[in-house]
Amino acid sequence: MIKIDLKPSASFFEKSQYDEMLERAFAAFNTLESGTGAGNDFLGWNRLPIETPQSLIDECNSVADKWRWLGVELVVVIGIGGSYLGAKSALEALSHTFAAQLGKTSPQIVFAGQNLSQDYLCDLMDLVKVRSTALIVISKSGTTTEPAVAFRVLKQYMEEKYGRKGSRERIVAVTDAKRGALKSLSTQEGYKTFVIEDNIGGRFSVLSPVGLLPIAVAGYDIQAMMNGAKDCYNATSISSEDNPAIQYATIRNLFYEQGKKIEILVNYLPKLQYFSEWWKQLYGESEGKDGKGIFPASVNFTTDLHSMGQYIQDGERTIFETVISVEKSNRKINIQSDAQNLDGLNFLNGKEIEECNRMAQLGTRLAHIDGGVPNIVVEVEKIDEYTLGELFYFFEKACGISAYILDVNPFNQPGVEAYKKNMFALLGKPGYEEAAEALMKRL
Ligand code: PA5
Repeated sequence: MIKIDLKPSASFFEKSQYDEMLERAFAAFNTLESGTGAGNDFLGWNRLPIETPQSLIDECNSVADKWRWLGVELVVVIGIGGSYLGAKSALEALSHTFAAQLGKTSPQIVFAGQNLSQDYLCDLMDLVKVRSTALIVISKSGTTTEPAVAFRVLKQYMEEKYGRKGSRERIVAVTDAKRGALKSLSTQEGYKTFVIEDNIGGRFSVLSPVGLLPIAVAGYDIQAMMNGAKDCYNATSISSEDNPAIQYATIRNLFYEQGKKIEILVNYLPKLQYFSEWWKQLYGESEGKDGKGIFPASVNFTTDLHSMGQYIQDGERTIFETVISVEKSNRKINIQSDAQNLDGLNFLNGKEIEECNRMAQLGTRLAHIDGGVPNIVVEVEKIDEYTLGELFYFFEKACGISAYILDVNPFNQPGVEAYKKNMFALLGKPGYEEAAEALMKRL
């Protein structure tokens, strides 16, 4: 089970300060668990680990089986934000780093609709044209511009290549049960669909079909992921000071109130880079409102110690770090002795690279603490489906508690709408004529 090590931060606060914030965290936890807080119509994610039916797991796996049987080599997953980052982060964490170059995975998973880059989509079409392809299109609202544009292009291509009937075998939609353009289009075209429940927001949806379907199609064990999430549900649903979600919510708000306005999520494994992207959306969109909120940032160490290390050690003292510390690597390589020792590295003889990584981690922790950067350590045994399930649920639960401590609604995102309105107006969408005129004067 995930553990929070608060010791590395202990010199940054008095016990009484921690206890005071802990009381607020208990109150926030009760608000979340009793469903009495702002946004309480979006709490469906909270019980997914214990309420997801076996039939949903089986249904996801049966899409995977069917596409394997059809000889699908490439699956394009179309979505953005919460309809993208969960699956992307899990697949990056679980896949062989060089799977594409090794030609390993079957099917290979790529993403679309997470940007509006013409070059990206053209490059993707080059790949799609030389592979047997299937699509998973994910959009709760069914109207988000980026995935809708990508889907229109890809759908037209699929129909040219496989025909409308053939495309039906190769396109699955994940969307609202009743509303939205994607729902009506899917019904009309006869696509298989999975439902995103009304009470689950995008950034809390990784343990719903939004994340589970692409992860299953990539060949990973979603049952193990849900088992990890369930064990984490049990550990984080108790009103106790040992509850790691309560601990994390407490400590990060304590630092925030001490003027540490930026939290950096740190990993020492490049495979966790996109996990940080998922985490940034979760915390940024949940807490950054009403002029409040910790700014979520991320770094990949040791790589970024050679770029961001100077600032973290010595720049403005407004940062704290949360380190995901992974106890065991999945693979091993030892450093061998060298008769000539021209590089002077024989003091490392016999050591695993992992030990170097660990010592870099411990050394960095102490250096950053000395530099005035508190460290929260989230300890996890290794990276696999089970522990990812734990991590996803842990950070979701802690996020709900933390946002309630901050006194914001964790489950809305009013700020995301502003750019969309401007973009629609500038693209000439009907109904936005007046806004377009006003905007054009400002450009
Ligand atoms: O967290 C969120 O709600 C957002 O990031 C959405 O997931 C994102 O905007 C995509 O929305 P939709 O799934 O409706 O296309």
